[in-house]
Amino acid sequence: MQYFNLKDPTQIVSFGEAIQLGLGNKQGLFMPSEIPEFFDRRIEELINMPFAERSVEILAPYLAPEFDYDEVKEIVHDAFNFSVKLESVNQIKNQHVLELFHGPSLAFKDFGARFLARCLSKVLGANETTVLTATSGDTGAAVAHAFYAVDNVRVVILYPKGKVAPLQEKLFSTLGYNIETIAIEGDFDACQALVKQAFSDEELRQEVPISSANSINIARLLAQVCYYFEIMAQHPQVNKVCVPSGNFGNLTAGLIAKVMGLPVEKFMAATNANDTVPRFLQDGTWAPNATIPTITNAMDVAQPNNFPRVEYLARAYGFKFNETIFSQSVSDAQTKAAVKSLYSKGYLADPHTALGVFACRDWDNVATLGTAHPAKFLDVLTEEGIIIELPPELEKVEDKQSLALDMAPDYATFKSYLLED
Ligand SMILES: Cc1ncc(COP(=O)(O)O)c(C=O)c1O
Repeated sequence: MQYFNLKDPTQIVSFGEAIQLGLGNKQGLFMPSEIPEFFDRRIEELINMPFAERSVEILAPYLAPEFDYDEVKEIVHDAFNFSVKLESVNQIKNQHVLELFHGPSLAFKDFGARFLARCLSKVLGANETTVLTATSGDTGAAVAHAFYAVDNVRVVILYPKGKVAPLQEKLFSTLGYNIETIAIEGDFDACQALVKQAFSDEELRQEVPISSANSINIARLLAQVCYYFEIMAQHPQVNKVCVPSGNFGNLTAGLIAKVMGLPVEKFMAATNANDTVPRFLQDGTWAPNATIPTITNAMDVAQPNNFPRVEYLARAYGFKFNETIFSQSVSDAQTKAAVKSLYSKGYLADPHTALGVFACRDWDNVATLGTAHPAKFLDVLTEEGIIIELPPELEKVEDKQSLALDMAPDYATFKSYLLED
């Protein structure tokens, strides 16, 4: 499969190049040149397969010819070695949550990060790279765990100081070894801007080969395509999906699944007060405001960097906004009420997931992606009077010391850090 740059379509690269580069010329995002489409009987066959086997079938065409079928099989079985569960949250309306947080960092990002780490490690061979990533929450933990102790890979994680849930932060800032963490005195967009600037800095790239593990990296999104199929495998009646959205990577993966033939009729991209996309869908103007801090901080993104992919897919495959792709902004008060109401009905959801369930409350036959384990957001739960036990993954890091370095959001400082270390 070849990949082209959305901003410079003359730049065509292989899968290996796309995942090493992360971003293309002019900071353009890579997309597969063609999306394999499956029809009727083949879709049925796929849906009937176990998760990992089906995922090999889905991913193999995107990695060929650089990776043969058996290599893809090995990577997928190793990367997706935890469960995906569809839980009912409202039987009358047939509403569900697809729990994607049973991996090592308790978030959906384990799928993408673990898949990317394995692909990148094969592509690199003996060459060294620095994986640069900005995180508003779960990416840091997923990337840190996926790349921990991977040979020839140095990981540098930037995150907004004081704006990531404390336990969440501990999951990535306490590992050390090849995982370096920097607390930036700014918001997520400031972290993302530093990473983007590094990618367009040719001088830096000559000295320090860099790769990205953010959801701009196409390998992560391809991995995420797989779990959308699991919704229909576990409940064939479900035909709508709600995606708690920040950078819109997860929605991009869902749209790719639809192009491949998955029978999803509608997507709801649920956002918090950072409502650039819902406003865009209403009046057609792209007018990002400053980032607003919310209790769903992993989604505090005012300029979602995957949105050009969503627009491209909508244009290329005729998905209409407000017909196939909907978007709604949910306030903190509504999210808290949703956490409480779900809990009273017997389902404990993290705030991001609860926000999604709230956004599609009027739909039936719908699955919301359960993007993080509730225990990662204890502060919100405690405020709502919900007390739970920590899962072992979090208990282990609770009392550990953060190893993160503080840094101003200044590119010159960041660049010299990358060059010096
Ligand atoms: C818990 C959680 N929910 C939702 C999202 C939003 O996903 P995306 O950025 O793919 O839209 C994130 C991303 O950081 C997340 O960590």
